[in-house]
Amino acid sequence: MVCIRQATMDDLLSMQACNLLCLPENYQMKYYFYHILSWPQLLYVAEDYGGKIVGYVLAKMEEELSPSEPCHGHITSLAVVRTHRKLGLATKLMTAAQNAMGGVFGAEYVSLHVRRSNRAAFNLYTSTLGYKIHDIEAKYYADGEDAYDMRKQLKEKKVQQQLQHGNHHHHHHHGSCCSGDSKSGPAGKQ
Ligand SMILES: CC(C)(COP(=O)(O)OP(=O)(O)OC[C@H]1O[C@@H](n2cnc3c(N)ncnc32)[C@H](O)[C@@H]1OP(=O)(O)O)[C@@H](O)C(=O)NCCC(=O)NCCS
Repeated sequence: MVCIRQATMDDLLSMQACNLLCLPENYQMKYYFYHILSWPQLLYVAEDYGGKIVGYVLAKMEEELSPSEPCHGHITSLAVVRTHRKLGLATKLMTAAQNAMGGVFGAEYVSLHVRRSNRAAFNLYTSTLGYKIHDIEAKYYADGEDAYDMRKQLKEKKVQQQLQHGNHHHHHHHGSCCSGDSKSGPAGKQ
């Protein structure tokens, strides 16, 4: 049995280890701290029965938006260790993060980048999760590979407006959208 749960501070080293095993895009520990301190509801881990972290999703709300830009979330990193793939874990991790982006922060959509050649992830995002290609970013990755800039709509605009202007008793957000208290994102591309 593998359980999906919100990550805690104690999981960050295991998440980083999993990231190093699975992906060439790696981050300093301070970037994991920045995520968990800013948006603790947006980090999830998959934990096996022995307490081992076998997958994670690291996500954030986009900060410093222009007034016309709708509130949205971003998937910084997602991985599942090789031995535990094709079990639906990435689908569950992504769904948990997306639900919290919409439910807690009021995100209208979620964005992510994926390598053009990453068929497994591309299928997961398009076929299973309903993401669409929004743009192509040429040479986005350090080795020169292009990225698909993908988006998934979380709420219809109309529904969003109703939530904002409608019945306030039932739709309190537990966190402000994209409230920028830290501007210290790391250099480079996430
Ligand atoms: C991409 C990744 C996170 C998928 O994790 P996973 O837990 O195996 O994914 P799921 O079991 O939830 O798969 C859901 C769907 O994704 C697609 N998919 C997953 N692995 C696939 C593969 N090897 N080939 C083709 N499609 C695949 C399928 O459409 C699958 O649905 P199905 O099982 O009904 O066929 C995992 O392969 C991984 O960690 N890869 C290395 C890191 C990485 O690429 N991260 C994403 C960076 S953007």
